[in-house]
Amino acid sequence: MTSSPVPHMSSDELRRHGHAVVDWIADYLDRVVELPVQSRVEPGWVRSRLPAHPPQTGEPFAAVLRDLDEIVVPGLTHWQSPNFFGYFPAETSGPAILGDLLSAGLGVQGMSWATSPACTELETHVLDWMVELLGLPERFLSSGPGGGVIQDSASSAALCTLAAARERAVARHGVDPTLVVAYTSTETHSSVAKGARVAGVGHVRAVEVDGLHAMRPDALEESMTADRRAGLVPAFVCATIGTTSSTAIDPVRAIAQVAARHDVWVHVDAAYAGTAALCPELRHHFDGLELVDSYVFNPHKWMLTNFDCSCLWVADRAALVGALGILPEYLKNAATTSGEVIDYRDWQIPLGRRFRALKLWMVLRHYGAAGLRAHVREHIELCRWFEARIDADPRFELCAPAPFSLVCFRCVVGGGGTPTDGDGVTADLLAALNGSGRIFLTHTRLAGKLVLRMAIGATMTERHHVEAAWELISELADAALADAGLAGSE
Ligand SMILES: Cc1ncc(COP(=O)(O)O)c(C=O)c1O
Repeated sequence: MTSSPVPHMSSDELRRHGHAVVDWIADYLDRVVELPVQSRVEPGWVRSRLPAHPPQTGEPFAAVLRDLDEIVVPGLTHWQSPNFFGYFPAETSGPAILGDLLSAGLGVQGMSWATSPACTELETHVLDWMVELLGLPERFLSSGPGGGVIQDSASSAALCTLAAARERAVARHGVDPTLVVAYTSTETHSSVAKGARVAGVGHVRAVEVDGLHAMRPDALEESMTADRRAGLVPAFVCATIGTTSSTAIDPVRAIAQVAARHDVWVHVDAAYAGTAALCPELRHHFDGLELVDSYVFNPHKWMLTNFDCSCLWVADRAALVGALGILPEYLKNAATTSGEVIDYRDWQIPLGRRFRALKLWMVLRHYGAAGLRAHVREHIELCRWFEARIDADPRFELCAPAPFSLVCFRCVVGGGGTPTDGDGVTADLLAALNGSGRIFLTHTRLAGKLVLRMAIGATMTERHHVEAAWELISELADAALADAGLAGSE
């Protein structure tokens, strides 16, 4: 019995409600395939069902679970549906869910080694394991000057590495950060430009891409040379393996060679595609990583680990800690002073940090390398199958190579049709597909044209889901073409 006036949940209640919540999650994952993939609520619908004022006294937990079903679920787009093909996947899995639950239950703050040694050491160890599993260069292992850290997102990883590169350039060239330049391509994820803004990097260039949407190293060289002539200081370049729009692959080796000539930090963003490196037969896409300063990939996209879990490695951790490390009196401790431990607060923006390594550790131990490779290979095979359907059908065209598990395609209009007609029909098809509630896709623009992205990668997606998606796309494309009064291109 507790004498506290605070109505804490007792351990017995936690056990009971906890079982109900785990049952709820398992039931949800069983039934999610039946729910309309995209939420259909109008703006304001969810808020209109919530009380205007917060509860003054506690409510029964069952009432909260009921509202979860009645108010929250209708307002969800179901990212875990096997028929979710939008954006990039945000996979979850049993071991990752339980790992996150354990992290919440332990409730530790892992900002310093001393605040929970296991939180730091498990993270360092699992990131070393990942270097081996992904075939990454040894320079990223914690046993040398480099090492890995789990960030909340690839966006944060970009910001941290931009800050490190900015500091390095400022120290080496004795210039103001406003003269520092970061280079992206026109296809780089927007998080890099945002990170540059936050990090106070003076200039950002978007380098031209080639016909396959990959950064042109010759254009990068030209841009860096011109900037140096103008008195600016090139400091950072981001190459992407698997761009967001089309999974294009920047030529990392050639980019790193250009960067080396100009003393520039090379960051590689493989947020989505990085999981593919689990499979040795796909590692040729990751050529040149031994030349780069930092590398990020998101297990929270395609590696069965719920958001948030973004793995960042640096070749020289001193550069990162130099940019982000601050040691106020209230955080001083003997372990930090000894210099023998990692304090991850100095590798990231916030001070506090969750025990994210737990879920990654659980995923690795549950699936093993063999299980994870089977997962990637299955999605790649489904992608090949879908790509072949599109390629063989004159009503569609492929808009980019599909090296991983994203297919970019659009409708082609024949005869008297113009490219603009293609955009209109493609947009109509997307609206019909998502409106059906049966599948969910998103779009992008490539070379100015509207393109649909079929991102195959939800945890529960199997061949029959992709086959059914293809049938629906085929059926609704006929309707979209007929509505527009246009025939296919034959
Ligand atoms: C290539 C690439 N980089 C970065 C990001 C941003 O990822 P995060 O949400 O982890 O910041 C994405 C998101 O899709 C991405 O595709």
